[in-house]
Amino acid sequence: MDTSLSTIGVLTSGGDAPGMNACIRAVVRSALNKGMRVMGIHKGYAGLIKGDVSEMHANSVADIIHRGGTILYTARCPEFMQTEYQDRAAEMCRIFGIDGLVVIGGDGTFRGAERLSDRGINVIGVPGTIDADVSCSEYTIGFDSAVNVVVEAISRLRDTSASHERCSVVEVMGRNCGEIALWSGIATGADAIMIPEDKDSQSFDQIIRVIMENRARGKNHNIVIVAEGVGNSQELTKRVHEVTGIDSRCTILGHIQRGGSPTALDIKHASMMGYLAVEALAKGETNRVIAVQKGAYVDIDIDEGLAMKKTPSMDIWKANLQISTY
Ligand code: ADP
Ligand code: F6P
Repeated sequence: MDTSLSTIGVLTSGGDAPGMNACIRAVVRSALNKGMRVMGIHKGYAGLIKGDVSEMHANSVADIIHRGGTILYTARCPEFMQTEYQDRAAEMCRIFGIDGLVVIGGDGTFRGAERLSDRGINVIGVPGTIDADVSCSEYTIGFDSAVNVVVEAISRLRDTSASHERCSVVEVMGRNCGEIALWSGIATGADAIMIPEDKDSQSFDQIIRVIMENRARGKNHNIVIVAEGVGNSQELTKRVHEVTGIDSRCTILGHIQRGGSPTALDIKHASMMGYLAVEALAKGETNRVIAVQKGAYVDIDIDEGLAMKKTPSMDIWKANLQISTY
């Protein structure tokens, strides 16, 4: 054992994401191999406040590497914004002997982690959210799996929309972030991709022009991808129909994007990040996030990470504009 930490905890928080289980497995096994005890905290910060904690062993994480969701359950816990509950959570860590903690979630989860680090608990964050909206990391666990679910769903929509010569408007998740829309848009050959971060991407006139030009050149069906942060995709579908006369249908993919087995890419990153989080704790680090920057794993200070600004992948949007022209 190369640290004074004897017991660590692990929790998942915010929306679940495929690959979280692989990350939990990596944390548990890496820590046990260092001679640490591991406590699984159920339901994120909500469970920590209540002491919903149980010890984990090597076989607690057997046969979960390929499973979606999170065996530790997850939650959103608004109370945790209040100092009273942050004090209680830190006290709970002391009661269970937890002196190091790995939190798997997004920027909100890392804000909570900072509050625990302030209270003397060594905390390391791992980015886990399908949205890819963690400001300091190019990659978040679950993003690749979610994009693959969207691509699979759109290939089904393509069959029916082509058969009926319709326009399919597809709303995808991402909160205020357009990455799922951008990646799935280019991967499905979408005619247009609308994202919340960039006003140009939302120009209704441009979308209509692309659809009409493609129709004039003989393309009999269209796919428009709308990130949920853009807003009313049903209304947009109605307007497309009214303005173009093309029969249009709206599909909101919703929570199916969060389910299913993680892709190999998600499992690989989840395993590496879980392992690196334990390595960081073992070195005595706290208040840091394991991130991917320029394709490499790094660990960065949570304050610095939260202060970074995520820039949308407009290169994908620009390329798609060229490629989508029929
Ligand atoms: P994500 O971690 O994916 O960004 P949320 O924004 O829902 O998801 O945050 C997850 C949880 O993190 C919240 O329910 C809350 O318990 C905690 N959290 C979020 N923001 C803060 C904050 N400013 N201070 C303390 N805890 C926070
Ligand atoms: O953060 C993941 C996410 O799936 C977002 O894409 C979406 O906006 C939100 O969570 C949905 O939250 P809930 O599961 O609470 O409906």
